Amino acid sequence: MNFVKVINKLKKEKNCVILAHFYQTADIQNIADFVGDSLQLSQIAADTSADIILFCGVNFMAETAKILSPDKKVLLPEPKAGCSLADSCKAEDLKKFLENYPNHTVVSYVNTSVEVKALTDICCTSSNAVKIIESLPKDEKIVFLPDRNLGAYIKSITKRDDMVVWDGACHVHEEFSVEKIIELKKKYPAAKVLAHPECKKTVLILADKIGSTAALLEFSKNDECNQFIVATESGILHQMQISSPRKIFIPAPPIDSTCGCNDCKYMKMITIEKIYYTLKNEEPEIIIKKELIEKAKKSILRMLEMSK
Ligand code: 13P
Ligand code: SF4
Repeated sequence: MNFVKVINKLKKEKNCVILAHFYQTADIQNIADFVGDSLQLSQIAADTSADIILFCGVNFMAETAKILSPDKKVLLPEPKAGCSLADSCKAEDLKKFLENYPNHTVVSYVNTSVEVKALTDICCTSSNAVKIIESLPKDEKIVFLPDRNLGAYIKSITKRDDMVVWDGACHVHEEFSVEKIIELKKKYPAAKVLAHPECKKTVLILADKIGSTAALLEFSKNDECNQFIVATESGILHQMQISSPRKIFIPAPPIDSTCGCNDCKYMKMITIEKIYYTLKNEEPEIIIKKELIEKAKKSILRMLEMSK
């Protein structure tokens, strides 16, 4: 069966929009109506007039779409597509943790479960984290979660030294090898290093540009350099190569090169075949209790309002 052809036909018949994160495989990015970072995709999910949102990404992203468009059917082709970072902060552990920090504003990276968002005052993504923290009064007490690397990066920029940071991390971004990046820099001395702020400080120190996936893509497009070492999930290279066909993009290697750690195993659970069956059967669907949606929604709406 030509899956791409039938997906395109079904998509029109069912008034479905397909959203894909930059970390999806090239074939999926090519059939999507929109490809973007987590902030861009949540903005599209909030505004779409489609009846069905088919999310090619991970669970927390599809949940965010459902929270923003609760009356729409939100489909995720693989319910097991989780996130090691979101898993590093469980709502029950966070509840206990927050007892130690009364009167703190809770700022959560969107890479969290809906239950954690319900305990959150403001969400952020890697695109707007610095802006959101800087918008809070200087004397406001803040708990930031769940990513320790993004938290440390925000602290270094905003000088909020007393910001409390949760000790979580992403298995992909933690694994980039400083030594191997230095080796690549020797091999390609003209290359610039692009890094996502979820990487460890030792990697960020080597970076010429630190930013969200969308920011790194934009930089690679506009910068005069034509060689880049890319320290984020490998899926982004597809859009970089489309935007700049003559430039060279080199994926930064993980410490253990046999583990494929610059691929997010959760993102890569989505396949064209699964997309077809999901669209045909209209399941698996994201279902979240109304009360939980209402509790979680405020923190995401605050972020979207502040990102305008
Ligand atoms: P972006 O906010 O850049 O889309 O990143 C999402 C993510 O999951 C990073 O690992
Ligand atoms: Fe989560 Fe990391 Fe995968 Fe992003 S790359 S979805 S943070 S596990």
